[in-house]
Amino acid sequence: MGVKRIIAKVLGRAVTWNKLPFGTAIVAAAGSSERMEGEDKLFADLCGLPVLGWSLRALEASPNVHEIIVVTREDSIVPTADLCAELEITKATKILCGGEDRLSSVLIGLAEASPDAEYIAVHDGARPLVTEEIVADAFSKAYKYNAACPGVPVNDTVKRVSDGFVTDTPDRSAVYAVQTPQVFSADVLKAALHNAKIKKLKITDDCGAAEAIGIKPAVSLGSYENIKITRPVDLKLAEAIIEARRAK
Ligand code: C5P
Repeated sequence: MGVKRIIAKVLGRAVTWNKLPFGTAIVAAAGSSERMEGEDKLFADLCGLPVLGWSLRALEASPNVHEIIVVTREDSIVPTADLCAELEITKATKILCGGEDRLSSVLIGLAEASPDAEYIAVHDGARPLVTEEIVADAFSKAYKYNAACPGVPVNDTVKRVSDGFVTDTPDRSAVYAVQTPQVFSADVLKAALHNAKIKKLKITDDCGAAEAIGIKPAVSLGSYENIKITRPVDLKLAEAIIEARRAK
């Protein structure tokens, strides 16, 4: 019998060890899907389930996540509520109408997070292939370092380009492609996003906002399979990845 179980027995009651801090997941799903020819990509069929459904199921299954806030397009609010009911996403507490850019959408979700939220994950609804392991590692790194993003080393050589000409080649070994969910202590995310909004920073991810206030996010477990559905070809790739996972 382990030490923890012996102490629990002596105390004569069940003791909850290592209770996880309250975690909120904000799902950014209010994009215009311009590169998907206007169709809301979050509702595109992916092996029998809308793209957004896959993301919601992964977050629902995570013990680190206690509430899910979905920020979506106005015309997708009712379909999102129906999807949550159908998939029994019991942690989904709010479905909100997003803003004109991603930062505004995340801020709308953040304003509605539970006051109990100690850690907040921001996930692109358009990343349906996220796994429980990726979510768990991002949270556990955020518990330690206040900010974390899943990342993978880039395979291609990356160039900095200006006016159609290469100006610079960053050292490839130091360049990572980062993904979501990105996880933060609640105070850090609030300070970072409000600063980005006030200063009109051109950020493309939430860690970028944290970096701008001097935070150094940790890189957590990422995956080359955790792709973002951006163009029609990405759906085909996602289908192939799901089929390969099912065949395992
Ligand atoms: O446009 P992009 O694919 O980079 O968007 C990343 C995520 O942010 C998507 O899941 C998209 O739905 C979301 N988004 C949002 N509100 C916006 C723009 C994008 O929630 N105004």
